[in-house]
Amino acid sequence: MSFSDQKQMDDESGSLKKSNKKQKKENAWRPEGPRDPFAMLDALPEKKQQEIQKALHLFSLGQCLPKTLQEAKRHTYHFWDTQPVPKLGDSITTHGPIAEGETSVRKEPYSLPPGFCWDSLDLSNSLVLRELCGLLNKNYMEDDDNTIRFDFSLEYLQWALQSPNGLLQWLLAVRVDSNKKLVGFIAAVPAGIRIYETMKQLVQVKFLCVHKKLRLKRMAPVLIRELTRRVNQQGLHQAVYTAGTVLPTPLSSCSLWHRPLNPRKLMEVNFPGLRQKMSLQQAIKFYCLPEVPKVQGLRPMIKEDAPGIHSLLQKNLSKFHLSPLLSLQEVEHWFLPRENVNDTYVVEGDDGTLTDVVSFYGVSQRVLNHPVHTGLRAAYLLCITSAATELAELMKDTLILAKSKGFDVLCALDVMDNTSFLEKLKFTISDKRVHYYLYNWTCPLMSPDKIGLVLPN
Ligand SMILES: CC(C)(COP(=O)(O)OP(=O)(O)OC[C@H]1O[C@@H](n2cnc3c(N)ncnc32)[C@H](O)[C@@H]1OP(=O)(O)O)[C@@H](O)C(=O)NCCC(=O)NCCS
Repeated sequence: MSFSDQKQMDDESGSLKKSNKKQKKENAWRPEGPRDPFAMLDALPEKKQQEIQKALHLFSLGQCLPKTLQEAKRHTYHFWDTQPVPKLGDSITTHGPIAEGETSVRKEPYSLPPGFCWDSLDLSNSLVLRELCGLLNKNYMEDDDNTIRFDFSLEYLQWALQSPNGLLQWLLAVRVDSNKKLVGFIAAVPAGIRIYETMKQLVQVKFLCVHKKLRLKRMAPVLIRELTRRVNQQGLHQAVYTAGTVLPTPLSSCSLWHRPLNPRKLMEVNFPGLRQKMSLQQAIKFYCLPEVPKVQGLRPMIKEDAPGIHSLLQKNLSKFHLSPLLSLQEVEHWFLPRENVNDTYVVEGDDGTLTDVVSFYGVSQRVLNHPVHTGLRAAYLLCITSAATELAELMKDTLILAKSKGFDVLCALDVMDNTSFLEKLKFTISDKRVHYYLYNWTCPLMSPDKIGLVLPN
């Protein structure tokens, strides 16, 4: 059985259709047919399962979401076409909400098929945090050939999901009634954002994830609707989110760039995006970095730097069309270094004022089926802004620091002023696109260099 969006709309009044009443609990969101292919797949050894997944991917048998605008124009968005988002292909010149603030917000949660229930995840409970980590590490995005998976740490999830003023009910989960197994998740964290000249309180939506065995059964739209209801209940009606697939309608489409720090390991694990025609020796030489950073006054951020960073960011990020409006508390949350989560460095001038800041976060990745390597450490550039040092110089030192901390690669989007150093510092463009979206807000599209916001997921 799947959970159709239309039925969800019809359920607004709370009445379930007769056919659903008859539906036996145990059949909900289960594959149909006499032989359960998941059970058959499950019976195979893990290695065999991965081979099958890889083959399915290679031959594109599965239902793929559009990766380009061209493909998107041929796709029918059964769910997104019902949502307050701009239509693909519309030329937009106005600014503002698409659906004006609804007067009443539905009081009851959206209904789930029998056998499933809603939960809000209290991540201060270490057992719950571990459960979420388990769901994401087994089911969140994988690399295209299915050999590299995210390996989020507990501390990373706390950082990414427990920002100031976050609400418990915005960490939304679906569980199986009978055994309480976690099978779906979506999160919203509060944020202030400037969109062109408008300052908006909204939410950042992240970590949408459905258990692999319940894919393509329309659980994602129900998660999105229920989260929207919970956000609306707090008087907020807009959201910002990113995705690797094209949905209606990207505000901006950015590319992910990689800068190898440990080319030997990346070559050994066949990391996508390395320069193809280089031997190992050539790559080691090409990507070689100095041992120590050069910029005078560069040091790790301490708590007392938060006000200085706050004013630097306020000044420097306002030139972009989409940028965060951070409180002092949020600066501390997102920037203050946490062991194995994120790192921030500042440049302090002779008179003690902060002139530059650079910050990155780290995500481990698991390498599957490799005889030697089990993991990779990737650093992601969160923000780099400078009032005194040349950006490329500051970034070069950042590469040195990231390497000294054991990262194998540093990834950056072509947002903000990043294109000024990407090629110069030997980043290579990957085929990964990150599309930015706004929910219930229309405004002219932006080029990547007008985006001043990176959303860690
Ligand atoms: C993303 C994911 C939750 C979608 O679930 P699914 O089982 O494939 O899809 P469902 O049948 O539940 O729902 C399909 C609908 O969700 C939409 N959808 C799929 N991925 C989406 C995304 N990342 N953001 C928003 N909507 C998405 C589809 O467009 C479709 O709606 P449409 O009919 O309007 O096109 C699931 O594939 C998953 O967990 N993937 C791994 C984690 C991941 O990549 N998360 C997204 C990070 S950006």
